[in-house]
Amino acid sequence: MNILILSRGPELYSTRSLFFAAQKRGHYVRILDYTECSISIEAGQPMVWFRDQALVNIDAIIPRIGSSGTFFGTAIIRQFEEMGVFSLTPSVALTRSRDKLQSLQLMAMAGVDFPKTVFSNLSYDASEIIEQMGGPPLVIKLLNGTHGMGVILAKDQNTAEAVIESFYKTKNRIILQEFIEEAGGEDLRAFVVNGKIIACMKRRAKPGEFRSNLHRGGSSIIVKPDSEEIATALKSTAVMGLHVAGVDMLQSKRGPLVLEVNASPGLEGIETTTGVDIAKQIIEFIEAEVAKKEKV
Ligand SMILES: Nc1ncnc2c1ncn2[C@@H]1O[C@H](COP(=O)(O)OP(=O)(O)OP(=O)(O)O)[C@@H](O)[C@H]1O
Ligand SMILES: [Mg+2]
Repeated sequence: MNILILSRGPELYSTRSLFFAAQKRGHYVRILDYTECSISIEAGQPMVWFRDQALVNIDAIIPRIGSSGTFFGTAIIRQFEEMGVFSLTPSVALTRSRDKLQSLQLMAMAGVDFPKTVFSNLSYDASEIIEQMGGPPLVIKLLNGTHGMGVILAKDQNTAEAVIESFYKTKNRIILQEFIEEAGGEDLRAFVVNGKIIACMKRRAKPGEFRSNLHRGGSSIIVKPDSEEIATALKSTAVMGLHVAGVDMLQSKRGPLVLEVNASPGLEGIETTTGVDIAKQIIEFIEAEVAKKEKV
């Protein structure tokens, strides 16, 4: 096959891992910076260009689009889809999963459980929104935060009000979330490929911290998800329309609660923690999908 990895980081572990896995299985594979691509839109003649080179005869693309590249990256993926190229991450699924609020709304409709969440406009009164949540403690999150940055635990009313007001003042959109204390600074990352969990790890926050992100000094161990966790991870991935996803879940008294369904999950933490060759399984999945397409 002729595979393109759309990534701005050819040196990143995930990109390299996918590149070498594809090569090992005998494919022709290239890493292209999608921000240097352009598209020409014309009825019946969709084209994608990398600088002055037309990208033709591509069998599959592997989008590794960072959150800041979502708008342009999605347009490129959509164009490839119009050309009949298989995309590991469908454009619709990427758009859906990058919108945190829309993701939660879709999961709620599908009956997937997550921490109770409140979102309001920037002008809303801080004390009213805290009351709507049932008071502190609560978690305040920047809508576009990542790696645990902009995730704050407000233990009391004064802190909660001060944090909300300062975010509103600086025009940062936030969500308020029920604090799941019993998660005890741990969460699960289930790696889903083609409707199955192929690897799963538990991340634990460093002492004195409630955020389990590895970027915040957390540690990780391999675990086996229970049946409820499996069902939740698979259902939320399906709701997003993703073939491959990293599903983050908190273990709560009322069962697993989804925090996020990541459309471009990193491979380093999970491959090194679990020893599973995830990149290889992703390439094998792409092979099967492209073969299915060719049969039609
Ligand atoms: N409602 C909550 N109750 C308890 N702990 C939470 C809650 N929300 C988040 N946490 C903890 O904080 C960590 C970071 O939160 P979250 O994953 O929502 O943000 P992020 O990692 O910055 O963003 P994203 O995962 O969307 O890129 C989680 O991994 C979890 O350990
Ligand atoms: Mg997270």
